[in-house]
Amino acid sequence: MKVFLTGATGYIGSAVLDALVRGGHQVIALVRDPEKAERVSRLGVQAVLGDLRTPASFAAHVETCDGTIHAAFDYAKGGAAIDRQALDGLLPALRRRTIGAAGRASRPAPFFIYTSGAWVLGSTSEPAAESAVVAPPPFVAWRPSHEQAVLDAGADGTIRTIVVRPGIVYGRARGIIADLLKEAGNGLVRVIGDGTQHWPCVYDRDLADLYVRLVTSAGASGVYHANDEADERVEDIVAAIAEHARMRPDVRHVPIDEARAKLGDYADALAMDQRLRSARARALGWAPTLHSVAGNVARLLEEFRTSREAA
Ligand SMILES: NC(=O)c1ccc[n+]([C@@H]2O[C@H](COP(=O)([O-])OP(=O)(O)OC[C@H]3O[C@@H](n4cnc5c(N)ncnc54)[C@H](OP(=O)(O)O)[C@@H]3O)[C@@H](O)[C@H]2O)c1
Repeated sequence: MKVFLTGATGYIGSAVLDALVRGGHQVIALVRDPEKAERVSRLGVQAVLGDLRTPASFAAHVETCDGTIHAAFDYAKGGAAIDRQALDGLLPALRRRTIGAAGRASRPAPFFIYTSGAWVLGSTSEPAAESAVVAPPPFVAWRPSHEQAVLDAGADGTIRTIVVRPGIVYGRARGIIADLLKEAGNGLVRVIGDGTQHWPCVYDRDLADLYVRLVTSAGASGVYHANDEADERVEDIVAAIAEHARMRPDVRHVPIDEARAKLGDYADALAMDQRLRSARARALGWAPTLHSVAGNVARLLEEFRTSREAA
C-alpha cells in the first residue's frame, strides 16, 4: 500500500511509520521541519515538507496514495482548530482521489485513519465497548465532533473511514508513562488523586501493529479501541515503577484542585477512571504482545534508557 502519514516524527506516528516500513508499505510523510524530514528520509520514506494548516502543502500527495493515516496533533494553542483544518484538507483530497474526472468511483475506496483517544469516553462505570456513548472531559470536548466528521465522510462509501481510540501509550521515552519513569528516576512521582483510577494503556508497537492491520483489512471501518485491557490502577503502575527504580522514589498524591491549578483541564483527564475493551481490534486478529505496564516495567525502563541515549 502507498500511505500518506501525518505525525511521522511524533510518538504514535513514529511507531506507525516503523511498522509500515517493516511491513513493506510505501510511505509519504508530512513533516514540518527540514532536519526531521532528513531523518525520516533515511528510513527510505518520502518526506514532504508542509503543515497541517496548509492543505496546499500536502493535498496533491494525498491524492496519489491508497489512504491516509492522521497521527499528527499540534499541541500549540489552537490544536483542536488546527486538527479541524487538517481534516478539511485531508478528507476532500482523499475524495478527489476516488472520484475521477468522470465523476464516478474509479478505484477502491481509499482509507482514512483518524487518531482520536480513549479520553473521549470520559470515566466509565463498566468496561466500555466501541459503541459506548462518549462523555468527554473538557480537555477533549472538541474531539467527538472530529470523530463524527471522519465517520460521516465515509458514509457514502467513497472513503473507508476509521477512528482509532488509543489508551495511554507506553514504550520508549515519550508520553505519560515515560514521564512517570522519568519522575521515578528523579526521586519523586506525582499521582493525581488517590491513584485508584484505572488507566487504559497500550504498548506503542502493539498500537502501530493495529494501524497496519487496519490499512490492510479491506472491510475495516468505524471506531476501534486500542488498549491492552489490563484495567490497571495508577497506584499499581506507580508501585511497580517504584520497585524497579534505582532508588525508591517518593510518591506524592496531588489533590485534584491543586493539579487543576497547575495543569488545567489536563488534570481532570488524568484523574478519570477508565476501563475499555478493544473487541473490534481483536476481531481483526490484533493481539497485543504486552499485557500491562506494571508487568513490564523492567523492559520499559530499558527501552526508556535506550531511547533517551539514542535521541
Ligand atoms: N500519546 C498518547 O498516549 C496518546 C493516547 C491517545 C491518543 N493520542 C492522540 O494521538 C495523537 C498524536 O499524539 P502523539 O502523542 O503521537 O503526539 P506527538 O508525539 O506530540 O506528535 C505530534 C506529531 O504531530 C506533528 N505536528 C504537530 N503540529 C503539526 C503541524 N502544524 N503540521 C504538521 N505536523 C504537525 C509533530 O511534528 P514535530 O515533530 O515537528 O513536532 C509530531 O510529528 C494526538 O491526537 C493525541 O491526542 C495520544
